Order: sequence, then C-alpha cells, then structure tokens
Amino acid sequence: MKYFSLLAVLLVSQQVIANRNPVPVYKNKNTPTELRVTDLLKRMTLDEKILQLNQQTVGDNNNPNNKGYKKPDFPAGIGSLIYFGSDPVFRNTVQKRAMEETRLGIPILFGYDVIHGFRTVYPISLAQGCSWNPALVAQACAVAAKEAKLSGIDWTFSPMIDVARDPRWGRVAEGYGEDPYTNAIFGVASVKGYQGSKLSDTYSIAACLKHYIGYGMSEGGRDYHYSDVSAQSLWETYMVPYEAGVKAGAATLMSGFNDISGIPASANPYTLTKILKERWGHDGFVVSDWGSVEQLIAQGVANDRKEAALKAFMAGVEMDMVDDVYTQNLKKLIAEKKVPMSRIDDAVKRILRIKFRLGLFDNPYTPIVDQRYLQPESKAIAQNLAAESMVLLKNDRHVLPLNDHIKQIALIGPLAKNQADLLGNWAAHGDAADAETILDGLTKEFGQSTQINYAKGCEIDGEDESGIDEAVAVAKKSDVIVVCLGERKNWTGENASRSTIALPAIQEKLVKELKKTGKPIVLVLTNGRPLELVRLEPLADAIVEMWQPGVEGSAALASILSGRVNPSGKLDITFPLTTGQIPIYYDMRQSARPYAGKYQDISTDPLYWFGYGLSYTNFVYSPISISAVKIHKNQKLTATIEVANNGGLKGKETVLWYISSHASSISRPVKELKYFEKEEINIGGKRVFKFELDPYRDLSFPDADGKRHLEAGDFYLLAGNQKIKFELID
Ligand code: BGC
Repeated sequence: MKYFSLLAVLLVSQQVIANRNPVPVYKNKNTPTELRVTDLLKRMTLDEKILQLNQQTVGDNNNPNNKGYKKPDFPAGIGSLIYFGSDPVFRNTVQKRAMEETRLGIPILFGYDVIHGFRTVYPISLAQGCSWNPALVAQACAVAAKEAKLSGIDWTFSPMIDVARDPRWGRVAEGYGEDPYTNAIFGVASVKGYQGSKLSDTYSIAACLKHYIGYGMSEGGRDYHYSDVSAQSLWETYMVPYEAGVKAGAATLMSGFNDISGIPASANPYTLTKILKERWGHDGFVVSDWGSVEQLIAQGVANDRKEAALKAFMAGVEMDMVDDVYTQNLKKLIAEKKVPMSRIDDAVKRILRIKFRLGLFDNPYTPIVDQRYLQPESKAIAQNLAAESMVLLKNDRHVLPLNDHIKQIALIGPLAKNQADLLGNWAAHGDAADAETILDGLTKEFGQSTQINYAKGCEIDGEDESGIDEAVAVAKKSDVIVVCLGERKNWTGENASRSTIALPAIQEKLVKELKKTGKPIVLVLTNGRPLELVRLEPLADAIVEMWQPGVEGSAALASILSGRVNPSGKLDITFPLTTGQIPIYYDMRQSARPYAGKYQDISTDPLYWFGYGLSYTNFVYSPISISAVKIHKNQKLTATIEVANNGGLKGKETVLWYISSHASSISRPVKELKYFEKEEINIGGKRVFKFELDPYRDLSFPDADGKRHLEAGDFYLLAGNQKIKFELID
C-alpha cells in the first residue's frame, strides 16, 4: 500500500513538472510548421532574433574576391554560416553548440556556393543550358545536393538565373544564357533538383535564386557595376526566371550587388517587398550578397552602416551576409522607432520557417557516411550532361566523327593536357585530379588502333612561340589535328570581366601555323563565355564547343569525337562575330529601319545565333500544322511539326518554338522562345513535336509594372526553318 501511494505521488509530481515544463510546441515535430514558428518566435528575446538575421563564415574562404575575411569566432546562436569546409564532423560540432549551449537550441543554417556540382563537378550552367535537357540538369543538381548535404551543407547559393547578354561579364558562365525563358526553365529544374520533392527529404538542400535582380545587365560587362534596367525590360527580361523560380518553391533569394537605375538591388522595396513578397507571396527569406548591405554606402544611397542597415532591412533583405551591419545597428534602429518590431518578427519568421521546413530542428546533424563523392551513377550523370551540353559549331566535309581511316591524331594545344581549367569557375570542392585530361580521354576512347601524338604548342596566354614548331611537326605526321584552345577557369566567374572575348593572340597564331600543314583541323574550345572566333573559324574544318565540362568532360568529348555519341547541344547564347557587336542577342527589338543601320566594317550578324548547333545526322522539318488559324483568347492552339532523321546516325533534336507578333501596344522582340522539347530520333525515323500554346501564358506581355496584357492581332509561330501565321481574336 505504502509502495502504491509513493508511486502515485511520483506520477502526480512528474505531471506537475511536465505541465510546468512541457515539451515546447516548437520542438514537437508533429506540430504544423507555422505553429512551431510562432511558438518559437514568442519565446525569443530581441538579441536572439537579431542573431538569426545574421550570417558569418566558418572555414577557409576559397572565394578570392572575398578573401582576407575571417571572423575568429561567432556566437553559438547565429542564424547562418557559410561553411567553406566539407567535414561533417566539424559541422556537427558547431551545430551542437547551437543546439545545446543556447537557450532555445535553434539550429544554424549552413550555406555554401554549390554551383555546378560539389565534388562531382559537372558543366558550368552556361553549358548546361545548351543541353536543352532540364530533366538531366535536375538530376545533376540532385547529385550536388546529396554530396553537399553529406558534407554539412543545408543551403546552396544557386541557381544563378541572371539573364546575361554581355559575354565580357565573367558571370555569364554562371547562368543559362541570354534568354529569359531558358533561364526560367533551367532555374526551375535546378530548384527541383536541389530541393527534391520536399525540403525535409534526406538529401534535399534549400535553393537560392540569385542575384535578384538585373545583375546580368552590368554596364560594359564590368562586374559589380551599375545596371541601367528600364522598368519594361526588368519585367520582360530579368523578372521572368525569378517569377518562375519563386513559383517553383525556391526557399530563398539573394539580393544583388548592382544598382538598378538608381535604387540598388539590396535596398529596393519595389522588387524585394512589393513584388516578391506581396505580389508573388514568397514566404521564405532574402539574403544579401556578400557585403551588399554595407556596400550601399559605396553606391551612394546610405551615409553610414546604420543607414545601410535601415535601407536594406526595410526594403526586404532579411539576412545580412557577413558584414555585421544588422547585428550592430538593428537594436538602435528599433529604439529610435525607425524599424518596427513587426518587421523584425516577419524577418525572423521567414528564416525560422525555412529551418523548420528543412527539418533542421528535428535532424540538426549531418549523418556520417563512407562514400560521399564521385559515385559511378553521379559520374554517369555528369558525363551525359557534359556530352549533351557540347555544341558542334562547324563540321565541313564531315570531318567529324573521326572515322576508322584515322590512324594518327595530332592532339595539340594548351588545354589538351589540362585538368584544372576543365572544371570551370565556382567548382565548390571539385578537385582537378578527379578530371581526366583530354589526352587521357581520347587515348581511352580510341584505344590501340589510333595513335595520339601530343604537343602543347603554346600556353593559354603569353608570347612564347617556342612550342609551335614541335606542334607543327606532330601535325605533319598525323591524319587530323585536334587543337584544344580556350580560357583559364578564372577568366570567368565573379570579378572576371574581359574587354575582349577573343582568345589570346598566341593561341590564334598556333592554329595559323597548323593550318599550313594542310591537315584537317578540329578545334575544341574550353571556355566560360562566347568567344570571338572571327579569325579562328575560317582556319578550322570542325569546331566543338565543349565549354568547361567538369570532371567527366574529356570522356564526353572523346565520345563525340569518335561518333559514339551524336552531338545534340544548341547554343543558349549568341556568339558575336567580334566583341564590338556586343550587345547582340536573338530577342532584341525590331529596328526602325531593319534594312539599314548595319556596321560599315563587319557583318551585322553574329557568327552563331542563339539556338544554333549541328548534329552528325540530318534533321528535316515538315511545315508546322496548327489546330486553328484563328483562336479566341481563352482557347488553346495545338501546333505540331514533324522532324525526320534523314542522316546516317540516330540523334537527339531539340525543337525550339518561338512566337513573334505583328503589332502590339508595346513593341515586342523580333521573336521570343516559348517552349522547347528534345527527343531522340532513329535513323530513317520521324517524330512529331507538339506545342500547346496558351494565349495568356504565351502571347501576353508585361507592362512596366508587370501587369500582363493580351491583345488581339496577328502572330507567327516559328520552329526550325518553318513559320506559320495565326490570329488571336477577342
Ligand atoms: C557572390 C555570390 C556568392 C557569395 C557567397 C558573392 O561574392 O556574388 O554569388 O553566393 O559571394 O560566396
């Protein structure tokens, strides 16, 4: 009896303790996210809240543009860290401090630039767009997410979806080219790849659309520069991929460095709040770019750090990347009643929401596994993507593929035996040693039957011509010359603008000398931007744009040179004839005198337009068929086109569907890409490609405030060399 009464007392007292000290709502994983967020928020002090709005770094910063920055320590309760390392054990130690040594145990969000692979580096984004295969890009991003997640990363600062029309700008490499729709489709594919079906999945990481917005317009191609974006082109060109990315569920966005026509992107209430949050309903958060809050002073819109904090925070930037402007000033700004508590609460909620959605409160630690990187299936995805991204730009007299009659290949050029530059810029934890050289790739592909004679010929730049004679000698004894030219990986990326997009003169000189041997020349290009090929193109019989293809690039190139894989890439960016043509892009507006206004000294056409790319086979397009020649605004139009493979190899063809309108109240671009589809077609086979045109989605256009207008009138639908007219009626 005595025993039972003791037990009863114990139970009752435990209940009393539990009632007094129940598991807080925010810690209960069965509670809906919004309730957890609200519960946690009401328990937080102002200091704890402000810490959530702050991001610092941990580990050795490997971004040369932001080097020299290292904070010795950071508070355990910090909102986020950029984690430059890849050791999950270290990351877990830092996380443990946050979970166990802070009052509320709020996990830290670990971010990093996982741009085109973590360790299994795949092609740069500019190349990925040329694959026209968003499903494959999503798979590659999922590989990157898994490798990153297993290395302690919860959040990537990717995708970059800044439409870019100036190849002098080094960051052109990081986006999907010159077209808004293409950037939208690939941006969405990568968001889906990173985030999976839900953020809390084991290998999902949060995506970040960057750099919101207009950064790609940097004047003169100079990085960090002013961008003069009219309200009309903001909506027509730059907003398109961001709106799509937000609708696809991207958890976060990064505000850009650039000043948009007088209002910097990181202090722009119109884009950051009115549009993003109020009109599009984004409920995640915006992080500044590196120091872009403090840089409002340099841009001339803030007198000091306090004013910079006020402007950025009130405009809609929730998290301050590294510059400590928020931690030092928000409290004072609240005391002065310049920042209301409601804005602090809204900002903190947005950050907590993403942490909850990622499952960080319930699973804060990274699991430790043996095999994280370079798994065979990951490498296969990287190789497929590299092969599908490569673009055959020229193939006179069917020099390619290299057939069985070729017994000796002269492999020449500064990129032929190079590993590091194949990775491209922003290659995360990529290791050059993981990348096979082109020499190794070709040796494996062609085997014993073909001899590869290698000579470097020259360096990537400089004036040393001493290697050219040896290259010429090697060329003379071979049946064909494969010359590998290109750029160093740090010639593109952040803070890597160039005044000319031509390759250094020494590389052009090498090809000139090789041409004198009379041997066929296959030019292979490794670069991160469109190049000025006006002098090189006439010297080459074939040209393969291999881009910076990542760790599996050489194998992919070799499969294309041998013909095992039929090239299927098409350009997502125009190659100007010369640097002086910049800006030149396919969807420019019509000129007042289309027959005039030409350059006096060069052709006005670029060397290769957006959408250009050859195959080893021959695709023939039938005329376009449409379901009706007149449609009402609420009626869809079905367009089909039959493509026949009349050549001798099976291959993949991408049909790009454009619309063009006759006259509207706001002038329209010459043509606009609205849909694309890539399919494989067997030898002698045919395939019908279909586009379901939705008038509101495909024929309307935005005004200077983004409001869409759908106007009746004549339109054209274009695909390949085909064109058909139809009418939209009220
Ligand atoms: C770049 C961003 C990048 C950030 C963090 C900045 O300098 O502009 O694209 O995400 O650094 O590394």
